[in-house]
Amino acid sequence: MDTLRSGPDSIYDILGVGFGPSNLALAIAVEEHNAGAPAAERLHAGFLEKQPHFGWHRGMLIDDATMQVSFLKDLVTMRDPTSEFSFLCYLKDRGRLADFLNQKTLFPLRVEFHDYLEWAAARVDHLVDYSAEVLSIEPVVMEDGEVRWFDVISRDPDEPGRTVTHRARNISVATGLEPHLPPSTVLSDRVWHNSELIPRVAELTGAGTPVRRVLVLGAGQSAAEAVDYLHRTFDGAEVCAVFAKYGYTPADDSPFANRIFDPEAVDVYFNAPSEVKRSLFDYHRSTNYSVVDMDLIQSLYATAYREKVQGTERLRILNVSRIREVRALDDRLEITVEFLPTGEQEVLTADVLLHATGYRPQDIGALLGEAAKLCLRDDEDSVRVGRDHRVEVAPEVTAGIYLQGGTEHTHGLSSTLLSTIAVRAGEIRDSLLAGRAATATALAGHPA
Ligand SMILES: Cc1cc2nc3c(=O)[nH]c(=O)nc-3n(C[C@H](O)[C@H](O)[C@H](O)COP(=O)(O)OP(=O)(O)OC[C@H]3O[C@@H](n4cnc5c(N)ncnc54)[C@H](O)[C@@H]3O)c2cc1C
Ligand SMILES: NC(=O)c1ccc[n+]([C@@H]2O[C@H](COP(=O)([O-])OP(=O)(O)OC[C@H]3O[C@@H](n4cnc5c(N)ncnc54)[C@H](OP(=O)(O)O)[C@@H]3O)[C@@H](O)[C@H]2O)c1
Repeated sequence: MDTLRSGPDSIYDILGVGFGPSNLALAIAVEEHNAGAPAAERLHAGFLEKQPHFGWHRGMLIDDATMQVSFLKDLVTMRDPTSEFSFLCYLKDRGRLADFLNQKTLFPLRVEFHDYLEWAAARVDHLVDYSAEVLSIEPVVMEDGEVRWFDVISRDPDEPGRTVTHRARNISVATGLEPHLPPSTVLSDRVWHNSELIPRVAELTGAGTPVRRVLVLGAGQSAAEAVDYLHRTFDGAEVCAVFAKYGYTPADDSPFANRIFDPEAVDVYFNAPSEVKRSLFDYHRSTNYSVVDMDLIQSLYATAYREKVQGTERLRILNVSRIREVRALDDRLEITVEFLPTGEQEVLTADVLLHATGYRPQDIGALLGEAAKLCLRDDEDSVRVGRDHRVEVAPEVTAGIYLQGGTEHTHGLSSTLLSTIAVRAGEIRDSLLAGRAATATALAGHPA
């Protein structure tokens, strides 16, 4: 039987779906507001996360991979540089502040940033239920037709098989990205997406399975990192990078282009007509998509060249190529790769095929269920979202749906990244407070 964990007396002001960096930043913004506010002005917040504990793209936590964003774009600093939840406070707490500074870098290891995120998540642990996958969200319709709350139904962390219902005035959906695969891909013990890289490699090495050849499809940062990692992990195996480009393209992190990730750029993008939005996106796509950090490109090239000199080429670049067929046999894969300029095909026997073919935002329509019908859509059938990240809804809906991620069409390229999460969390918190104040004023004007 289901349980209603929050009765009318404990309705959440904001309930977060997913607890990655976006909702973690929101939890902190709310917590910091509550710390200085009288009881009546505090926001009652909760967050539901399907993982058993905090984790940020764990499957890609390669030991030497670095962040692609400055540590100053952490959970809080761009919103409030004095916050105690900053990366610098974390370093101080861990006793590594001076050691970190001596490295003279803005880009920590991903492993270290993950530890920072875990440190911050632990400090707001009282707001989060883990092992609490949200299964559906149902509008609560009042007698007069007003939708004042949402019932959020999630797995019960304490009793698997049961569900729990939480009631909320507002929800913040930040369910992140999910793996994107070419159509008709069949995942298996030998065919993976890079989001599973670390555990899958550990399984193979743990079982002592021989690995003689690996193919990696894609030419983005994940693909290049995976090629490098697989090449040094399986030190007897050939690693083939397969992609349609001629060569890996460097990520544009030059200073003027990087301004596309500034909080001010969100305003410019949001207010631009749709054709300008599209052109801005296309001009600056190469800051983020299908691109690789220059240092890694140079390191891979140095490896390939060194092997050429030595006469043992384990790193093969199959450029201007596509995979045409994958045949799964009992103990291996047979993969047909076509060289596009000539149409020439080669069948490669491989032990593993890794798809580093990107990610896409999760389809929130499926998660929102009935609530999705209340969301207004634009001419291209995308959800309409206000500047304060609140989804535009039918007039009878007074409950709010805030979206973090999945808003590239309204808020621009930084939507799926860490760049603006601190500022965005502050904007959502302020919107919640403004909404509550407006409701209180309206009620005062119309006493029951
Ligand atoms: C390998 C990798 C490295 C990256 N590195 C960078 C970087 O250096 N800099 C940068 O700016 N961006 C980077 N990104 C982009 C990435 O999107 C952001 O870093 C960040 O993860 C966005 O945070 P989020 O909270 O919106 O989403 P996520 O981090 O994806 O978190 C979403 C959370 O929601 C949970 N969830 C999903 N569905 C449900 C449900 N139904 N119920 C409950 N919980 C649910 C998930 O388990 C997850 O914990 C990277 C992405 C990848 C894949
Ligand atoms: N260290 C880090 O911080 C780190 C590590 C990894 C990832 N990331 C981040 O994660 C995000 C995603 O990067 P990503 O590399 O995973 O994805 P991505 O940049 O979207 O790259 C996907 C690659 O897959 C190819 N591809 C897509 N569909 C394909 C298909 N059907 N057939 C063949 N090839 C296909 C794309 O080629 P086309 O372009 O030709 O379509 C592209 O080369 C980025 O923001 C990145 O910065 C960060």
